[in-house]
Amino acid sequence: MADHGVPVLRWADSPEGPVLLLLDQARLPAEEAELACRDVQDLVRAIRALSVRGAPLLGVAGGYGVALAAARGHDVAEAADRLASARPTAVNLAAGVRRVERAYQRAVAGEGADGGRAAAAALSEARALHEEDAEASERMAQLGHDLLRKLVPRKPLRLLTHCNTGFLVSGGRGTAFAVVSQVHAAGELRRLWVDETRPLLQGARLTAYEAMREDMPFSVLADGAAGSLFAAGEVDAVLIGADRISADGSVANKVGSYPLAVVARHHGVPFVVVAPVTTVDLATKRGTDIVVEQRAPEEVTHISSPYSPYHPEERGERGGGIPVAPRGADAYNPAFDVTPPELVTAVVTERGVISPVTSETVAGLCSPSRTT
Ligand code: MRU
Repeated sequence: MADHGVPVLRWADSPEGPVLLLLDQARLPAEEAELACRDVQDLVRAIRALSVRGAPLLGVAGGYGVALAAARGHDVAEAADRLASARPTAVNLAAGVRRVERAYQRAVAGEGADGGRAAAAALSEARALHEEDAEASERMAQLGHDLLRKLVPRKPLRLLTHCNTGFLVSGGRGTAFAVVSQVHAAGELRRLWVDETRPLLQGARLTAYEAMREDMPFSVLADGAAGSLFAAGEVDAVLIGADRISADGSVANKVGSYPLAVVARHHGVPFVVVAPVTTVDLATKRGTDIVVEQRAPEEVTHISSPYSPYHPEERGERGGGIPVAPRGADAYNPAFDVTPPELVTAVVTERGVISPVTSETVAGLCSPSRTT
């Protein structure tokens, strides 16, 4: 697994038993603080508070959560249900949870393992998932870079991204940001345009933090400023991640992704989605079937202070930082939106790139016979 100096997530033993330690992303970039999860309740709270977040990392964290319940002798089936439903949109969360739960159940049922050995089987599966995610990251970085070379002949590149997709969301270098990082390492990045990503500022707080650590040339912009960059011819490609890709190739990602896809199409700019195959959910047939998480109105009516609305000691009167809307104002706060496949130039996964994005190419990507 990639070493970034700051462990994003790690398993540790403490005198009271094992704990899952998370780099608390709700506090970044002000503080690099670890949050200890001693049981599933702690982890569910951390997931809902976005202390741990981003589709691939949610899968890894969910997997470790099942291992934690097993190691502490808690009810593993109940823990898995609670974890899998902690947030609804990123399919990786439930997929990671169920994978580790199956490994635990196999150990108990098939091999007749005792509690300790079954817990060890669960931990080993969570670790395998963690490592696979890191490997997938590397492959996506290479494939995405190769694709950009084909799609955009000019160099160096001006890339635009939304939300946060780097090492903070993965066992490795991430998804879309891993591609940006590969381009930068090749000396081919002129500028990364970082959407601030209202309301919770994952771009301004987290992507800027990642970009700074890699010494990238980057600028943070208000989400609404992206259109003027396209109009000025300042964007060569958009790179984003995904929280769920339905069988028809629709892409759920952080709210604000869909408008970017529309503007990119208007200006003839490639709109590229980078995600591991675990983000594809063939059981969800159409984009309209994807459950989009709706979050607290205070995230919109208040500005997070200083960085997060989630830590009790930082909460304002209504629990959301500094009020910016009149008291009692209604808010619409979907955490994600869905981009239809016809607006997506390509989907880059560790198994390869699909373009065009159609039901057929998505099914081909997931077919067991496809290995790269
Ligand atoms: O609500 P978040 O911060 O978990 O949303 C994360 C995103 O939308 C990311 O862009 C997504 O998970 C893609 S890949 C990391």
